[in-house]
Amino acid sequence: MQYATELEATINDMVQKGRGVLAADESAPTIAKRFKAINVESSEATRRAWRSLLVTTPGLGEYISGVILFEETLGQNAVDGDAITMTMTRTRTMAQAAWAQKIVPGIKVDKGTIPLALSAGDLVTQGLDGLAERLRIYKLQGARFAKWREVYEIGPKAPTQHGMQANAEMLARYAAVCQAEGLVPIVEPEVLMDGGHDIRRHAEVTEAVQQAVFEALRRHHVALELMLLKPNMVLPGKDCRRARADEVAQATLQVLRRTVPAAVPSINFLSGGQAPEEATENLNAINQQGLNSPWLLSISYGRALQKTALNTWLGKAENLAAAQQALVQRARLNHMAMLGEYDVALELA
Ligand code: 13P
Repeated sequence: MQYATELEATINDMVQKGRGVLAADESAPTIAKRFKAINVESSEATRRAWRSLLVTTPGLGEYISGVILFEETLGQNAVDGDAITMTMTRTRTMAQAAWAQKIVPGIKVDKGTIPLALSAGDLVTQGLDGLAERLRIYKLQGARFAKWREVYEIGPKAPTQHGMQANAEMLARYAAVCQAEGLVPIVEPEVLMDGGHDIRRHAEVTEAVQQAVFEALRRHHVALELMLLKPNMVLPGKDCRRARADEVAQATLQVLRRTVPAAVPSINFLSGGQAPEEATENLNAINQQGLNSPWLLSISYGRALQKTALNTWLGKAENLAAAQQALVQRARLNHMAMLGEYDVALELA
């Protein structure tokens, strides 16, 4: 593979015990929804302010090894330093600001989901056309890895076998293009936790999804050593009774052990709508039970990392330092969970 050395270096910079990935790649409608909840209008300027706050958070690099950015953010300069010191203004891109604290910049490259034609209940993600050309530009802007998300809703008959195969094919084609262009692919098949299904049903669907994904990755010659997997944890549906962390860990690890080859260096869970404390507690249990796993068991959380910080920020410059503190605190608690050393009592510390 042409870019094997480059890909290996990126894996080494991202896969480290106790560090994980921050997902800050919300699409325009999604970030507008998050901002609406705190009464902030979503504009180029407010999105830049928020994402600058994230990547310039002092000390974040200790716990975070990668950040997933949205296309707009990758092209922006960071609002930098001045809000804290009131003095310096530097001109550097978001990607440079992240890497200044050894946080590898990456980019979400999929273009979101549409219904899979003639297959009721299945979704599929768009964005493969022209992907190689886009990746070359993102690479010049500093991105070293990419992310693509396929989404599976659980219904009485969904997802179908056909739907799972179509989605797996997209993920594998995306991952192959990334590796051919020298960007590490994060492969994200997300089985949603929306609905009233129990944890067994979520496990059954997640297992079938992961199996289809790894079959497709193999078919498309993707080097498993040079990718990261971003799966959902196995959970009961939102409208079902909550499961204990040890139950979540047991179900999640069983599915992953059955389906994910040991060659994959790291599994970085998405938070998927779990409350921040819940996502940390579950990660901790997964690391405690998964002590002898072949893969690192880490995070690629969006909401569960950002939520408290966002609610502290409220779009106001005077809240910047407090919001950054909230972010670093959440990242540190997840760091503890990656070591299997988290305790809820630490939430109050
Ligand atoms: P959540 O952790 O909020 O689910 O976001 C992760 C992500 O990147 C979804 O694509």
